[in-house]
Amino acid sequence: MYFGVDYYPEHWVYPYDGTAGKPESRWERDVELMLEAGVNVVRMGEFAWGLYEPEEGKYDFKWMQRAMDLFGNADIKVVLGTPTAAPPIWLAKKHPEILPIDEDGLKRHEGTRRAYCMNSDVYWDYSQRIIRALAGALGNHPQLVAWQIDNGLGGHNTEASFNEETRRDWQAWLKVKYETIERLNELMGNRFWSQMVTSWDEVPMPRTAPTVHNPALVVDWMRFCSDTIVAYAKMQAELLRELTPGVPITQNLRALTRRFDHFDMAELLDFVSVDSNATIKSKSAELAGEIDMMRSLKKANIKTPEDDSGFWVIEQKAGNVNWQEVNSLVRPGVVRLFTYQLISRGANGVLYFLWRQPRIGSEKFYGGVLTHDGRAKNRTYEEIREIGLEMRRLGPALRGTKVVAEACILLSHENDWNLQFNKQLNKYFNQREHIQLFYTALHDRNIPVDFARPTEDLSKYKLVIAPSLQLLAGGEADLLKLYVQNGGTLVGTCNTGLVDEHNIAPDTGFPHNLTDLFGMEVLEFDPLPPGEDNHLTLKAALAATHMHPARLWCDIIEPNGCQVLGTYSKDFYAGRPAVTLNEYGTGRAVYIGTISHQFFYYDLIVWLRQLCGIHPLLKVPDMVEVSMRQNDETKFYFLLNHQNSPVRISFFKPMHDFLTGKTFTGNFDLSPHGILVLDEPASGS
Ligand code: GAL
Repeated sequence: MYFGVDYYPEHWVYPYDGTAGKPESRWERDVELMLEAGVNVVRMGEFAWGLYEPEEGKYDFKWMQRAMDLFGNADIKVVLGTPTAAPPIWLAKKHPEILPIDEDGLKRHEGTRRAYCMNSDVYWDYSQRIIRALAGALGNHPQLVAWQIDNGLGGHNTEASFNEETRRDWQAWLKVKYETIERLNELMGNRFWSQMVTSWDEVPMPRTAPTVHNPALVVDWMRFCSDTIVAYAKMQAELLRELTPGVPITQNLRALTRRFDHFDMAELLDFVSVDSNATIKSKSAELAGEIDMMRSLKKANIKTPEDDSGFWVIEQKAGNVNWQEVNSLVRPGVVRLFTYQLISRGANGVLYFLWRQPRIGSEKFYGGVLTHDGRAKNRTYEEIREIGLEMRRLGPALRGTKVVAEACILLSHENDWNLQFNKQLNKYFNQREHIQLFYTALHDRNIPVDFARPTEDLSKYKLVIAPSLQLLAGGEADLLKLYVQNGGTLVGTCNTGLVDEHNIAPDTGFPHNLTDLFGMEVLEFDPLPPGEDNHLTLKAALAATHMHPARLWCDIIEPNGCQVLGTYSKDFYAGRPAVTLNEYGTGRAVYIGTISHQFFYYDLIVWLRQLCGIHPLLKVPDMVEVSMRQNDETKFYFLLNHQNSPVRISFFKPMHDFLTGKTFTGNFDLSPHGILVLDEPASGS
């Protein structure tokens, strides 16, 4: 288990600390304090380009080498960032063409980070030069255990730029995809509003225009921008592999905030790293969902500095953030709780952002492990030191353990882009919220969940949920059918299969390519405004514990061989099917033609769990979050109390508490924000 901090040694030289005679003397104290806190890894250097190369071609890596040597004395390992997230001012001055142009045609200027266009040849060239120099100087340092590529790629809304070089690459991308202009016009549907083109250079980039761009073009643009970001990262990864073979490569990703295909990105990395922004007000099931999404990005060919599983949290916020309206302190025990939540869902490395609150710059009041005074007498340092002590014991025991899920939720970035950036029938429909309804139901019933893209091999899952795949490629639909054909249980929903991969609506009925799988056809869809709900009448085995509304979207379904599990109770489609079940091959396909409230999804999961033979991890009160990591010998259950008050849990058999070594049975009061790690032999061992 790697446990550490994000450290910026460059912030802590004279006059910000140290003395005129020994400007870097603070670093030694930092190393001592880190060791006391159980730190065994630091990430550094991701914004250091201007210090590494203060003038073009004049490099100075010695200061970083001195910092790494100090860590060497303490056997603290180092992850180095390639510094391309923050190009130096001299580069922007010399080559202003690297600065990104926005959709209004305005330049986004230098003077901050991320001010570069990822299609710029000049920027690629300078990126390669600094990486070569960096790897040449520090790539063989014995402390180096991993590289982080850039930092926060796509952050600050920099996924797309509209430079002339971007246009050049966009045209080349379109040419590869469509081969001929005729094909492009046809598949993009450019006859609409007569926007046909006669040459590649006439295809617009979707810049600010009087009204909406062609949705097919918009989704292609998002695909192209995603490919651009991934290509830029791949260039760095390949170069690093050539220069320092064997050093694992990662990147700090964030769940669902940046517009590129995170599965594609994860493919080129050796392991995934995550920025976690958990704060006091976050909802535990939402945080858990984000962690599971990030863990799921890379399921195979993982190579971390330690072994071949899991992911890292390369920035776990040590305290408050600085971008909320009110940035309240993180309460005692909450950083520990969030740390355990990450570990319980597969993290094998946790680094806190950031070691010490800087005295300079725009992040000076971000919570840090140390406060500005650097004295280590503060609450957060103490809390992290305690976590560090626990990790020294827990880390070795968790080695080789994994989260195992039998349920899976499908995520498709292309579908998300289509839903977010094109006109929709109901602006109140939100895919993230829709996914969360299913996820929360599984989470609150203590059922582990993976996420996957529709093209993955789903055969290992007993249950696959596919919320609102509005844009669904023919090949993806075929794979879903194959999964069910071979015995899987699939849940599909309203707003699925409205368009194919070219954004063309079907003339063979909705959901496109799946009417046979679900044994029905959606004849019309009725988007509803918030508050104007229909209602569900459930039948058969799917028992209702509450009155369930049908909200936001109602599919009007014509059954064609399926069983009807629920109907609408009012309007002109009262009595029509709303929830259906169809046997297909050796599996089953459930269709939910509407969106309901959370209780419906609880009922649904209770039924599906029985149908698919999925067992919850443990039975504990609702407000306790449970997850599990296991290997062949041991199961580790993590119980987390996200509440401000104690929760009583009743154990009906003796349980062993790994952290205290005690065994207990009967009632146990889990303290506010408390955690329990229970270990037991895996069955059969
Ligand atoms: C991260 C970024 C850090 C810091 C942090 C603040 O995404 O990598 O450098 O800015 O956000 O939230």
